[in-house]
Amino acid sequence: MKYQFPENFWWGSASSALQTEGASDSGGKSATTWDHWFAQQPWRFHQQVGPQHTSTFYQHWQQDIALLKQLNHNSFRTSISWSRLIPDGTGEVNAEAVAFYNCVIDELLAQGITPFLTLFHFDMPLAMQEKGGWESRDVVTAFGRYAQVCFDLFGDRVLHWFTFNEPIVPVEGGYLYDFHYPNVVDFRRAATVAYHTVLAHAAAVSAYRAGDYRGEIGVILNLTPSYPRSQHPADLTAAHHADLLFNRSFLDPVLLGEYPPDLVALLKQYDQLPACLPGDSALIAAGKIDLLGINYYQPRRVKCRENAVNPAAPFMPEWFFDHYEMPGRTMNPYRGWEIYPPGIYDILTNLRVNYGNPRCFISENGMGVENEQRFAQDGQINDQYRIDFISDHLKWLHKGIAEGSHCLGYHMWTFIDNWSWCNGYKNRYGFVQLDLASQTRSVKKSGEWFAATAANNGFDGEQ
Ligand code: BG6
Repeated sequence: MKYQFPENFWWGSASSALQTEGASDSGGKSATTWDHWFAQQPWRFHQQVGPQHTSTFYQHWQQDIALLKQLNHNSFRTSISWSRLIPDGTGEVNAEAVAFYNCVIDELLAQGITPFLTLFHFDMPLAMQEKGGWESRDVVTAFGRYAQVCFDLFGDRVLHWFTFNEPIVPVEGGYLYDFHYPNVVDFRRAATVAYHTVLAHAAAVSAYRAGDYRGEIGVILNLTPSYPRSQHPADLTAAHHADLLFNRSFLDPVLLGEYPPDLVALLKQYDQLPACLPGDSALIAAGKIDLLGINYYQPRRVKCRENAVNPAAPFMPEWFFDHYEMPGRTMNPYRGWEIYPPGIYDILTNLRVNYGNPRCFISENGMGVENEQRFAQDGQINDQYRIDFISDHLKWLHKGIAEGSHCLGYHMWTFIDNWSWCNGYKNRYGFVQLDLASQTRSVKKSGEWFAATAANNGFDGEQ
């Protein structure tokens, strides 16, 4: 069967500043929390590879954009590094950074690739973290100003803006589960960080609306559908709580302009609500978006808790559910994530039925695999597993669109093997293989497949 996608469908991939640029201590850039954390605790990072060099996009942007063109991308998302553009977070704009981002944007446009830009992809400037990071209202204000600077500098050519990439991840990593700096474990502080992130998002959206720019603004959320083990009421409640905490805590404010009442009641019951100020509700209501980016990697399977909670343990989302390992599930063993292509369809259906069918696109989907060298054939990585992964997800996406979902595109994570936070270069995600020693780039088989799919606006596959 031919899986044909709508006209002008966005085919492309996503990346982020910190994971690709490198030059983390040059070009006028200041340190992020990642540079700081790596200097303090390099053993936290796979093979002690830190963020200094990553995939050298800062030097090789022209060559990399030529590769995007070769992969038939019509669109590409990356992020601006706040610490490169405004090194102290609030003051002078760094002219070298402006020149760099202008070159990237202009070259993308010259190659017929629409730039999508994210303002914050996990890379908090250290100067801002030292002022409290997202726990501080001052940082929220500083972010609003940073956003405005970006719109003024680049908004004449960039028409698709995203305030945050996966805003819940720094909350989980930095304030609950110890996989991002500052390694705090404290739900109430996590809730404050999440709340202030929503305020910062809304401040940026408000600045965009006020400036009358000619594009659109949205946010990128990692949505993890919550599947209950069974239809038993206790399992259904567990799934409802997981959905409230991990999906709706950001989805509802950005699409509906307000928090789910059940979530507010839950946090109030456990005395975990962040401090709110008069005017916050109006600001959040003004943060409604034009376009939702959906990052989908894995589902979340839950069941009701088997045991009572230890009342002395830190309050955690897991007070409301246990993780459920579904028998027969398909796993990506390298990342430890379940592969479940129907999840993409379930997300689109939920958005269509319960959220008024917003304009959206798949902004990340992908498969990180360790030691891909073993799949090399005649000098090329034959990553058929990645082609299968993508086509299986695209089939469910196609079904969602056929049933009326307003999904406008599909971006892969990612175009070139890049640095994966604490996992360093352990798992490779790219359409393009990166040889770390020589920085040589070579297109994998999946890159060729994707280029053909984008050129044909679809692909032939089994039903
Ligand atoms: C998303 C992020 O969570 O998934 C990326 O937006 C990230 O920054 C990607 O790299 C893959 O996850 P990981 O942890 O394997 O790099």
